Parts: sequence; C-alpha cells; structure tokens
Amino acid sequence: MKILVVGNGGREHALVWKLAQSPQVETVYCAPGNAGTAIDGINVPIPASEIGPLRTFATDNRIDLTVVGPEAPLVSGIVDEFHDAGLRIFGPSQQAARLEGSKAFAKDIMRQAGVPTADYRVFRRAEDAEAWIDSLDEGPLVVKADGLAAGKGVIVCDSRAAARQAAADMLRSGRFGEAGREIVVEERLQGQEVSILAIVDRETIVPLATSQDHKRAHDGDRGPNTGGMGAYSPAPIVTESLMDEIVRRILVPTVHEMRVQGCPFSGVLYAGLMLTQQGPQVLEYNVRFGDPEAQPVLMRLKSDLAQVLSLAADGRLAELEGLDWDPRPAVCVVMASEGYPGDYCKGHVIEGLDKAASRPLTKVFHAGTTERGADIVTSGGRVLGVTAMGDSIPDAKTAALQAVGDITWDGCWNRTDIADRATDPVSAGRPASSGRG
Ligand code: AMP
Ligand code: GLY
Repeated sequence: MKILVVGNGGREHALVWKLAQSPQVETVYCAPGNAGTAIDGINVPIPASEIGPLRTFATDNRIDLTVVGPEAPLVSGIVDEFHDAGLRIFGPSQQAARLEGSKAFAKDIMRQAGVPTADYRVFRRAEDAEAWIDSLDEGPLVVKADGLAAGKGVIVCDSRAAARQAAADMLRSGRFGEAGREIVVEERLQGQEVSILAIVDRETIVPLATSQDHKRAHDGDRGPNTGGMGAYSPAPIVTESLMDEIVRRILVPTVHEMRVQGCPFSGVLYAGLMLTQQGPQVLEYNVRFGDPEAQPVLMRLKSDLAQVLSLAADGRLAELEGLDWDPRPAVCVVMASEGYPGDYCKGHVIEGLDKAASRPLTKVFHAGTTERGADIVTSGGRVLGVTAMGDSIPDAKTAALQAVGDITWDGCWNRTDIADRATDPVSAGRPASSGRG
C-alpha cells in the first residue's frame, strides 16, 4: 500500500512514522513534510494548500490512501476533490469540515443536537454585538472569529469592555479579515481542558486514547497561547465513566446531527472540552488529529493505523474490533524557537538529534525543521516534539526531558512542567487514578 500524508508538522511526522510501521504499507510520502518525515518516509515538494497538484501526484503515483494532517485543505474541500478523481482519502468532506471551518456552524450543530456548550450568540453587525454585550451582567466572555484564523481567532476576555473591544476589532476594524466577518460571542467556561478524539465514519465512532495539551507558552500555564507546548496520554482526569458520558452526550449526538443535516462526518472528530462543575462542555470541534496530541497518542497505538484509516475511508469502520493501546503513558515535550509564538529566527543548526534518537522508548518528532546540506536546521516556531513512553506519567516525562537535554540549538526552549497536572490532584480537580487508555 502507498500512502500520502499531507502537511509538514509534528502531527504529520507522527502519522508518517506510525503508518510506515504497518506491514501492509510499502511507502509513505509526505507533502511537503519536514526533515523528520524525510527520515521515516519520502518528502514530496507540494504544499498542503495545493490541492490540484496533490491530486495529480496521488493519481500518477497510484496512492492507495491519502491522510490529511491540517484543517485548511479539509475546509477547502480536498476530500471532495480526491473523491471526484476516484482517489481514496481519509477525512471529512468540505461540508462536514465546517465543524472546524465555521464556529457558528459548529455551535448551531451543538445547539440542535443538545450537546452541552457555552451559551452564545452569532453576530455580523458590530452594533448588535455591542448592544448584546452591554445588556449582560459584568463578567468574562469569549469572542471568536467564525472562520479559520491560524489558531488566533479566539479572544478570551475578563470583562464586558474587553469583549466589546474584541468584537469591534473583528467586525469594525477587520481584524482576522474574512474569518472575522461573523463572530460568536459566548460565555466563558471554567475548568480543565481535555481533548477527546475519535475516528468516525458516518455513524461508527471509535474513540482514541485520551490526551491533554498545554496551550500556554510558559510553565504554570502562563504566557501567551501557542499551538501547543506539549501533551500527554492518557489523561487520567477522564475516567471510564466520564468517557462514557462524553461519548453519549457529545460524540453520538454530534455525529447523528451531522447526518440529519445532510453532511455525514467521516475522519477525525476532535472535541476540545472544558470539564466544568456542570460536566463536560464543548469549547470547539476540530476535524483532524491534534498537534501535539497526536504524538503521544500515536506512540501508544498498537493497532495498524493504515488499516484503521483505510476502513474509515471505505465506510467500513464498523468492521474494526476496537483499538489496541500500550498501557504505558506517553509524554511529548515541544522544543520551540526563541521568540515563539511571536516572531522567531529560522535556520539554526540543531545538534544532538542522534543521541536523543538512540534512547529507548523515545521518538523525536520533527515539526519546524528542514535539511540544509548535511545539517538539520530550524524552520518553524515549534521545532520538535520529543516524545517518550514510561511506566508512569512522571517516568515518561523524565524520559522525554532527558532526550530534550540531548538536543540544542541557538535559542531553543521548552516547558518543564508538561504532564505535571496529570499527577497533581489539586490542579486536576479529581484523583488521578482509574484513567483509561
Ligand atoms: P477554540 O479555538 O475555540 O478551541 O479556542 C481556543 C482556546 O480558547 C481553547 O482551547 C480555550 O482555552 C479557550 N476557549 C475557547 N472557548 C472558551 C470558552 N467558552 N470559555 C473558556 N475558554 C475558552
Ligand atoms: N493542540 C491543539 C490543536 O491541535 O488544535
């Protein structure tokens, strides 16, 4: 089987690495890939946004399955275009990808499906948004650009005044451009965030192992939001009974409602949840694997990923007899460029990769890297996702940090507290026992 993975981040490297382990897979291509996907697969110099050339490549090279990493090509309709060309591809159609591509659409689906989520209103006119915000009691609110805004379109506000400003920035001043022409204003929820991902094919839902991301740049969950500075799996806070509740109250009604609305969902359904005092509530849906959540989750997956995704792409996921997980936890620590998530320099030579790679139960997933002659150099903000398994979450974290210690470049940095909240019952809010895989 020949597989094409679309994208160039840490998630895509984890997908390439895992898919290449399948006994059925002969070659994994990655477009455009990074220096790590070039080690575990073959890079193809086509950007993820170039759907036509990707389709031509897949046709000419008889690709048996295409797996799309990032959301943008999914929202642009890559799945429909591949289907039109008779190509097999894993992911949601353009209509179904609106779950991530339009926050207003996602909220409407949740409302119609009775899925717990923050109370909200959708606005196109600034004066309507401002009048509604003014009518509320003082308190925290969240203002969201409807469309894709490179992960920056969500403004979490402490006060009505800040929310008014955020709404005006989007609807009056055109911040976020077209993506912010429509906005969602919603109540701000409190609690711990968890990511629940499931492989879905129209009606069959196969949840993946649980995971938790760390979005803030600095230790103690301080500093600006990032794409994610690290992740661990499983998330002990998600007990078996909580997972059952999430499947029953969130995943099943959402997948059902998508079918009712005429846009059945197929692909990865990623529910970003807040575990509130009132139970789990949906913050957002994504329609792809999480990054960096995919790194620890895929490290723990023992089943044949190529087989699972092929079954889903064929609408035969019901034939799958569950997924097999390594019970040992995995922790991914992201190493980033100086300045990230703001401006950062590129082109620094990365040292120590071989030493880190020689450690047992450890994998260095590349994100923002590229080859320059014999060197591997930085080319992005999040550069590496150093991932390790261990007998416990602290052991896995220690192993990941030891490998991080092997690696260096000018200005590299990382959080040192990834996964600590998993074993800290105070910040976790519940005992960290009886988690599930
Ligand atoms: P989203 O892209 O919708 O996930 O939002 C990005 C981040 O903003 C989430 O991961 C949360 O940390 C935060 N967020 C979004 N919506 C809310 C909400 N209603 N209450 C509190 N935080 C939120
Ligand atoms: N880790 C957050 C995301 O993939 O959206």
